[in-house]
Amino acid sequence: MAEKIRVLLSEQEVEKRVLEVAAQVSQDYQGKMPHLICILKGGVFFMCELAKRLTVPVSMDFMYVSSYGSGTESSGEVKIVKDLDEPVEGRDVLIVEDIIDSGRTLSHLIRILQERKPASIRLCTLLDKPERRVKKEVMVDYTCFTVPDEFVVGYGLDYDQKYRNLPYIGVIEQ
Ligand code: IMP
Ligand code: MG
Repeated sequence: MAEKIRVLLSEQEVEKRVLEVAAQVSQDYQGKMPHLICILKGGVFFMCELAKRLTVPVSMDFMYVSSYGSGTESSGEVKIVKDLDEPVEGRDVLIVEDIIDSGRTLSHLIRILQERKPASIRLCTLLDKPERRVKKEVMVDYTCFTVPDEFVVGYGLDYDQKYRNLPYIGVIEQ
């Protein structure tokens, strides 16, 4: 059965904001080559849109992590389902994520990546739900939009693996 979806951020709004964030990232990484790490699967749409608009050269890699835990709450433990193909040592890593909720997944992932000795690590997210943050130490360097504590879908974000392909960000109406 199809759920009803209310548009929270239109395709045009997202496009405009991604362009702004890309300009900021390009400026901050002037003379460098950020190594974009996409967190699968949700980060993939944002990663592509962002990368296309960057004016600095980039390299890219992909990582698929799943956090142990049940229901909608993630746990602190992260299982690497698909690891990066290349080492990150000495590189300027920019993690590209769809949404930061409790921050548990990112907190654990950042620790794993730090051990691999990158030159720097920054975090870029399409959406942030700061009200839900448990791991306060997770510092977000680039946020496209702050969203309220509602379950959102589209632009890579899923509900039970559905709706990732929506070109906008929406909220499922009960
Ligand atoms: P965290 O560890 O609680 O920060 O979990 C972050 C992950 O939970 C994200 O990467 C998403 O995959 C998922 N998630 C959190 N909130 C939402 C939402 O509103 N819609 C879809 N996925 C979400
Ligand atoms: Mg995710």
